[in-house]
Amino acid sequence: MMIETATDRGKREAAEAAVAEIESGMLVGLGTGSTAAFAISALGKRIRDGLRVTTVGTSRATEAAARAAGIAMLDFADVAQTDLVIDGADEIDPAFRAIKGGGGAMLREKIVARSAARMICVVDATKPVATLGTRPVPIEVLPFARSFVCDAVRALGGEPVVRLAANGAPALSDQSNLLIDCRFGPIMDPADLARELTAVAGMLGHGLFLDEIDALFIGRGQGIERLERHIKS
Ligand code: 5RP
Repeated sequence: MMIETATDRGKREAAEAAVAEIESGMLVGLGTGSTAAFAISALGKRIRDGLRVTTVGTSRATEAAARAAGIAMLDFADVAQTDLVIDGADEIDPAFRAIKGGGGAMLREKIVARSAARMICVVDATKPVATLGTRPVPIEVLPFARSFVCDAVRALGGEPVVRLAANGAPALSDQSNLLIDCRFGPIMDPADLARELTAVAGMLGHGLFLDEIDALFIGRGQGIERLERHIKS
């Protein structure tokens, strides 16, 4: 039998608490990553127990995992609004501003997050930070614009690194674009950085999620901390 690590226990607890909020009839967005995978598995169980929901996925990997868990999926291209999105994060600050995209899915994740009436971010205790920037900010880049975008990131004070797959070739997003991890160090003004990145031609999406998250569930391995954003900026 596999022993569950404290981190995995935290991920699972946070994910299961979020899945407990799902009600019959909802249209639910399913995030990407190892914490979201716990949510998919918990949702599969609730569906086997009689819950009726439809879902959309934020990546091909999530769609495959959800189908394998017996979860009905719609094509997000046919969907304008969702009721609830459950997704993880790479780091998140006390103002519910997050860096996402460790799994390279931040472009679809942001679109689905923006479609949601409510987004719950599910994390283990290693993810909360005082100031964003411990990890790089991933960006999705049109391959044609690689050098141009890397130069623009350097001009903003970042160090861009093209993400590689296990075989040494560039890792590609679900849209067949490059993923470039940009290390900025402590990000004192995330809104300003988000604005500057968005203005770079050829930069198709970044991993700064500043306004999307409504609730944060932190699995601490011995219980969950549930935090709500009361004012959506
Ligand atoms: C994928 C993401 C993930 O939510 C983020 O990387 C966290 O992943 P994990 O739950 O595996 O730690 O943004 O693009």
